[in-house]
Amino acid sequence: MAGYVLAIDQGTTSSRAIVFDGAFRIAGVGQQEFPQLFPRSGWVEHDPEAIWASVVDTCRAALAKASLSASDIAAIGITNQRETAVIWDRATGAPIHNAIVWQDRRTADLCRRLVEEGAAETIAAKTGLVVDPYFSATKIAWLLDNVPGARRRAEAGELAFGTVDSFLLWRLTGGRVHATDATNACRTMLFDIEANEWDEELLRLLGVPRALLPEVKDCAAEFGTTDPALFGTPIPILGMAGDQHAATLGQACFTPGMTKSTYGTGCFAVLNTGTTRCHSKNRLLSTIAYRLDGVTTYALEGSIFIAGAAVQWLRDGLKLMERAEQSGPMAASADEAQDVVLVPAFVGLGAPHWDAEARGAIYGLTRNSGPNEFARAALEAVCFQTADLLDAMRRDWRGEASMVLRVDGGMVASDWTMQRLADILAAPVDRPVVLETTALGAAWLAGHKAGVWPGREGFAASWHLERRFEPQMSPVERGRKLGAWADAVRRTRSTHS
Ligand code: G3P
Repeated sequence: MAGYVLAIDQGTTSSRAIVFDGAFRIAGVGQQEFPQLFPRSGWVEHDPEAIWASVVDTCRAALAKASLSASDIAAIGITNQRETAVIWDRATGAPIHNAIVWQDRRTADLCRRLVEEGAAETIAAKTGLVVDPYFSATKIAWLLDNVPGARRRAEAGELAFGTVDSFLLWRLTGGRVHATDATNACRTMLFDIEANEWDEELLRLLGVPRALLPEVKDCAAEFGTTDPALFGTPIPILGMAGDQHAATLGQACFTPGMTKSTYGTGCFAVLNTGTTRCHSKNRLLSTIAYRLDGVTTYALEGSIFIAGAAVQWLRDGLKLMERAEQSGPMAASADEAQDVVLVPAFVGLGAPHWDAEARGAIYGLTRNSGPNEFARAALEAVCFQTADLLDAMRRDWRGEASMVLRVDGGMVASDWTMQRLADILAAPVDRPVVLETTALGAAWLAGHKAGVWPGREGFAASWHLERRFEPQMSPVERGRKLGAWADAVRRTRSTHS
């Protein structure tokens, strides 16, 4: 066995499949975008069948690009957009509704009610999460209350709930396995992250029947084998983790104090806090980084809903550029004398504000403001939000939090953005050679479990720095920019929170 591992990376806007060889090099990639559905303002849905079709196609494409067949693959690792909720019929495998995506805000009222009823403290104590439509539980409740017959059928055990990992596993195994892993379970708002089990009190509070839920396993575990009808020879599925958790592994952030930040559709910063849970006092999430061999490693996470999506909006919505890669050079040519600030609260604000009803705003426009200033504002917004997260992390974490940030995701290819990030953070930013860290982390889980890839130390030794960005901006300039950002956020927040 040559140590080939197939990683399935099912993201918010596209599905990717990557074959890695035994030296962690990419041997073949398949990638496909799929439709984003916006049925009403603040609602975001995906068609689970479109997700499934894109996953099967991209796996086949990646195998073909690598000139390999299923029998060459030692194991599959699955990583995925988290929180997105799917409910399907156990008998037919057919979803009862579109998936409700993590960005969807339709359950803001239910969340407000939960807070008013005093449930926030219990929820935070058990799950480490704040009450927000972001997480799966209120989406499940909405589906049960709004799809005719769903609640009765769920109670009768006829339906299954899963985040996308779980839905894909069900389909990949031909409907034989209903399971998830601890990192995905901990994002539902129904999972006790210390007891490591579904919590009966939360299930009652949210009205979710136990019969809907999958079995929760370690991130590296026997999840089943693929249905031979899909790729020929059955392939064992041995790894599973939500995408931000997989990226934490892919960045080899195994030591408490190490931090990674991934810039995809959104931006998610994760600080490894070790095997003891750290309770946030600054509205970060306390979450499971990964669970291996029954041992849970915890993390503090800061979640920003819009990062690359702001550039996508400039490209597809405002048509200010043809390709996202143009945003860096455009920002570099923006007029330094103009302070245009964008608060991309398109689907509310995530950490540390958690304001589901805020909406995007732009400040400081003059008659001279143009596409370049918009591009700089979109990229700087990502830097400012990361600074807010790291600031909260430093205040929460009493250990020796590393001042170096390991970055990955599509946006980090832009040198301008990474330099501005280092400037705004006043801390170095490390960009690794391999930027496909999410897929790599999922592949490591599966490859290690299959016995064809090394353990933590051997894998960590393979992490290599491509470039370190050192801060260069003067403290005065940095302070001025952060002040303008804080002011813009204050003006953008909804009056409800
Ligand atoms: O929590 C949502 C997150 O998992 C989505 O990640 O990479 O699709 O923006 P991404």
